Amino acid sequence: MTNNAGGSRLFEATTLGPLSLPNRLVMAPLTRNRAAADGVPTPLMATYYAQRATAGLIIAEATMPSAVGQTYANIPALHTPAHVAGWRRVTDVVREAGGRMFVQLQHGGRVGHPDTSGHVPVAPSTVALPEEIHTPDGRRPAVVPRELTVEEIRATVADFAAAARRAVDAGFEGVEVHAANGYLIHQFLAKNTNLRTDEYGGPVAHRIRFAVEVVQAVVDAIGPERVGVRISPGVGVNGIEEGDTDSIYRALVTALTDLEPAYLHVVFADPDQPLFQEIRKSWPGTLIANPVLGWGGPLPADGGRAAGEKLLAAGADLISLGRGFLANPDLVERLRTGAPLNAVRDQYLMYTGGATGYTDYPTLNEPALAAS
Ligand SMILES: Cc1cc2nc3c(=O)[nH]c(=O)nc-3n(C[C@H](O)[C@H](O)[C@H](O)COP(=O)(O)O)c2cc1C
Repeated sequence: MTNNAGGSRLFEATTLGPLSLPNRLVMAPLTRNRAAADGVPTPLMATYYAQRATAGLIIAEATMPSAVGQTYANIPALHTPAHVAGWRRVTDVVREAGGRMFVQLQHGGRVGHPDTSGHVPVAPSTVALPEEIHTPDGRRPAVVPRELTVEEIRATVADFAAAARRAVDAGFEGVEVHAANGYLIHQFLAKNTNLRTDEYGGPVAHRIRFAVEVVQAVVDAIGPERVGVRISPGVGVNGIEEGDTDSIYRALVTALTDLEPAYLHVVFADPDQPLFQEIRKSWPGTLIANPVLGWGGPLPADGGRAAGEKLLAAGADLISLGRGFLANPDLVERLRTGAPLNAVRDQYLMYTGGATGYTDYPTLNEPALAAS
């Protein structure tokens, strides 16, 4: 029977550091390309996030800490006062709607293009993304990135810390450092994208150094209770081949433990996987798990509720869902009551801009829009 909460722990109130969360459901970060071309968040983004304020926690989409870190077009940023002001309009509206938000800080590294950012992308090593990348003029072959010098690595660490301070000024409860899914930090972790022979490359202890330095700098800037870290052990998106997944994440999780950030967020968490179980055992803090719901197909009819409950039983503290929240502003209520879900439409209408496929997904109380 799924038509009531049935005592599910998903709908229990809980805490995250100093924050009170009304439930254990987290809106996963979702890039939606609705910022202005200069990275300033738009009023439409405030509407979108406010619609989803019943999430226990919203993690706002990947946001650039620097111009060279831009991945795709119309990505929000946090490196100028205008970015802070734009995000402040979003966080104010979400707070008024009863929600709370972290923002994900993402440097794209080699996942970027001069036609989008105006910069040759930078990376640990001169290894190009083996795929085309979306630019304002459509998909283009990736370019070979420039290798970061040690001085530039230190400046990039400082950019993350500065963006974290701006995030707090913009009204976010905290930031999530994006160390997942093949972007810059993951490029340092993985063997095939990090060919360096200095203190940032080679053995695992060197390859985790950049990730740890970024988290340390962000913790020092805004306090550990305001910092989360997203990782994707074994996930090969954006051309990543980690090489030695288990040792990377054993070492990284141990190093992060000493920094005491508020949470660790694991992408595609599989409760039956030994590495997931090991991470749960060794990580003393809050663990957010993003279940494996399958790609390219429809979401499960229960929206991921059963998968989320299984992960809670395996020791996760919070469950993050992406596409479910994308298509259902009132996802928490739908999962709680077993109501049917809106399906995700048209490849998320990512690069089209505007309200269609973004703020026009109806709630249960808006049946008139259901056919749109
Ligand atoms: C349209 C879209 C945009 C995404 N953008 C981000 C992002 O900005 N940062 C990130 O870490 N993951 C991103 N993801 C991955 C999601 O956070 C999540 O891990 C993934 O969708 C799997 O969860 P789900 O099955 O509940 O959708 C994105 C996924 C989708 C579908």
